[in-house]
Amino acid sequence: MAFDVEQVRAQYPALADGRAWLDAAAGTQVPQPVIEAMSEVLRGGASNLGQPYGSSRRSGEVVAQARTAVADLTGAPGPECVVFGPSMTALTYRFAAVLADGWTPGDEVVVTRLDHDANVRPWVQHAWRAGALVRFADFDPETGQLPVERVTELIGERTRLVAVTAASNLLGTAPDVAAIAARAREVGALTFVDGVQHTPHADVRVAELGADFYATSAYKWSGPHVGAVVAADAWQLENLHPDKLAPAPDESPSRFELGTLPFEALAGVTAAVDHLAGLDAEASGDRRERLAASRKAVLAHEEELIGRLCDGLAQLPHVRRLGPPQLPSTPLALFSVDGRTPAEVTAHLAERGVNVSQGNSYAWEALAPLGLGAEGAVRASLCHYTAEQDVRALLDALAELG
Ligand SMILES: Cc1ncc(COP(=O)(O)O)c(C=O)c1O
Repeated sequence: MAFDVEQVRAQYPALADGRAWLDAAAGTQVPQPVIEAMSEVLRGGASNLGQPYGSSRRSGEVVAQARTAVADLTGAPGPECVVFGPSMTALTYRFAAVLADGWTPGDEVVVTRLDHDANVRPWVQHAWRAGALVRFADFDPETGQLPVERVTELIGERTRLVAVTAASNLLGTAPDVAAIAARAREVGALTFVDGVQHTPHADVRVAELGADFYATSAYKWSGPHVGAVVAADAWQLENLHPDKLAPAPDESPSRFELGTLPFEALAGVTAAVDHLAGLDAEASGDRRERLAASRKAVLAHEEELIGRLCDGLAQLPHVRRLGPPQLPSTPLALFSVDGRTPAEVTAHLAERGVNVSQGNSYAWEALAPLGLGAEGAVRASLCHYTAEQDVRALLDALAELG
């Protein structure tokens, strides 16, 4: 294993400003190869698909390569299972519209209060239109965990869809999605998994998760602002017919994609996956194997740093960490500081050169159970380019608030 965080950081121009970038859960920065891949498409000429000249053919290759890259990253069976869109939120609305098409009064949908609102509201709103019943699964506010039974006890013969996160963006906890999806399958319900926070910190295998659909966002894993929904099986997409323009392609997955794809951003998606596959400099084999090896190295790195961060926070008497008492599954820490609003805390940190986000992180349904208002709390989040000095800078700046 050859993971060298300084070598990784050197590839990220944004990190050269010397600040502690501890807001990865809100969005990561991009490395030079991603910037170059995107620039190259724009520099070399990008034309719309389906024309006989080189720039059009290149756009077609860019799209095909990006689908293959995301299939490798998520363990999807192949590029035909990957749908692109502007964001996870936009794609989830797109899939909610088409999946809810056949719902009738009396049908049921299960969502969770641990989820980001992007995997709640689209289902709630479409269920409401169809007259379907929405059942909310509650997490345990003391531990931040969502036990499997809290979801499975809501699944019944009328359940059409279960929407669940693979990792909470607020608390960093990770439900047992495979067990939930297995129960959903028993009653013939589909499972739509929010993998936005899971993807950057896991060796993802959509089939093992049991997800019928798995959503991810490239800007959370060193890529540009592009979302993707991955189907576990191409026939899932084959059987769905979303609204589309009359002349737009009828074949899947293109028929899910509205308008012209962002070719330059898709080139960045491929470059980001290649970058992730190369984080362990000694990883070998095909891209899937290199991704798995690199993931392992990154997870060990992240685990050590989140351990240091949580230990450090526990030493500060004026800081209260929320969420799991033990280490979270994804490397983030949610906390509040006595006598200060989250905005005051992050303003102080920003002055000290520390980029940490505050707010409700759109985990809307989780706020009330945690006793939080819309202003939320402070969230420090780590990723593969986080270094020990970043964690130290945060802890030092927080100590000043005591
Ligand atoms: C867990 C989770 N789901 C969904 C989203 C929404 O993703 P997007 O910005 O691509 O719509 C986010 C964004 O922060 C997130 O953290």
